[in-house]
Amino acid sequence: MLGIETSCDETAAAVVKDGRHILSSVVASSLPFHRKYGGIVPEIAFRKQLESMVQVAECSLSESGLGLEDIGLVSVTSGPGLLGSLLVGVSFAKSLSLARRLPLVGVNHLYSHIYASFLEGVRIKPPFVALVISGGHTSLFHLEDFTKIRLLGATLDDACGEAFDKVAKILGLGYPGGPAIEKAGRLGDPAALRLSCCQTTRPLDFSFSGIKTAVLYHVRRRIGVSSKNRHLSLFEVRDIASSFQQAVVEAVVTKALLACRLTKSAALVVGGGVAANARLREELFLRAAASGIHAYFPSKGLCLDNAAMVAGLGYQLFRKGRLAGLGLNVMLE
Ligand code: KG4
Ligand code: ZN
Repeated sequence: MLGIETSCDETAAAVVKDGRHILSSVVASSLPFHRKYGGIVPEIAFRKQLESMVQVAECSLSESGLGLEDIGLVSVTSGPGLLGSLLVGVSFAKSLSLARRLPLVGVNHLYSHIYASFLEGVRIKPPFVALVISGGHTSLFHLEDFTKIRLLGATLDDACGEAFDKVAKILGLGYPGGPAIEKAGRLGDPAALRLSCCQTTRPLDFSFSGIKTAVLYHVRRRIGVSSKNRHLSLFEVRDIASSFQQAVVEAVVTKALLACRLTKSAALVVGGGVAANARLREELFLRAAASGIHAYFPSKGLCLDNAAMVAGLGYQLFRKGRLAGLGLNVMLE
């Protein structure tokens, strides 16, 4: 299987055997071109993807030791994601499918994040609860198999990773914010600030915009609205990062375990960029275990956007007859 992933700023291609064994996984990122804007600029992302798509696919083939003639299926992320970016990957995959008469599968980006855990030898028998925490989404699903997925709850405002990114920006820690907050927070006091995520009417939904605003107001109180000549001390930044991270981890862990309890699931599969966060992994793993639930995380590299998870999930959908034709379109939500 050749997998193609271009939903956000990455251009990724991977070759996966039997839906489980990664033969190659190449990820090119346009991140350095977005940094000065403090977030992803869609126009820059898709221009860079146009430039690098063919090269990245060639690179993944050569790293796998296979040729195009050995590929039996093309699997591509068809959404959700950025329109221009998705179109680059989907158009490339369609062209390849047409030119080489290869079957084509379109894959949901969130579901592919769930599949990442299955690429590392773990055998998890559905049904289970899946938590996807990324820069664009925060969702809890109940999964019977990869064609029967039910949404249990989702964020009502900012995504979890987006909250990390915005708080990092407020603290002057740069983009992407997740790894920066994690690094700063490691040396801070998680109890320095009393922060918590907002309650939601439906218990399995999430809300992160309130806590981001609480951090903003706290910082303004400390240094004023116009912060030109005043800065937070390094210690304050560490304490705020640590307290924010702790509050987000608390909300995410509590809701994920509640979802398991409500659906009587003994397994929780986590995916998406924020799943790389060490504090979250530790807390979720321990508290899940204490409730008799096993929490599965992909290795850190597979938490972030990659095409191996797309190729792997594509294979499972192909086996279920979920083929896409050349009419495959991108889906934004
Ligand atoms: O899944 P992903 O690579 O892209 C999307 O599908 O959005 O996730 C990217 C998000 C960013 O918001 C980034 O700040 C966050 O994941 N992230 C983290 C960490 N590493 C990446 N958040 C918290 N802690 C981390 N270590
Ligand atoms: Zn993602």
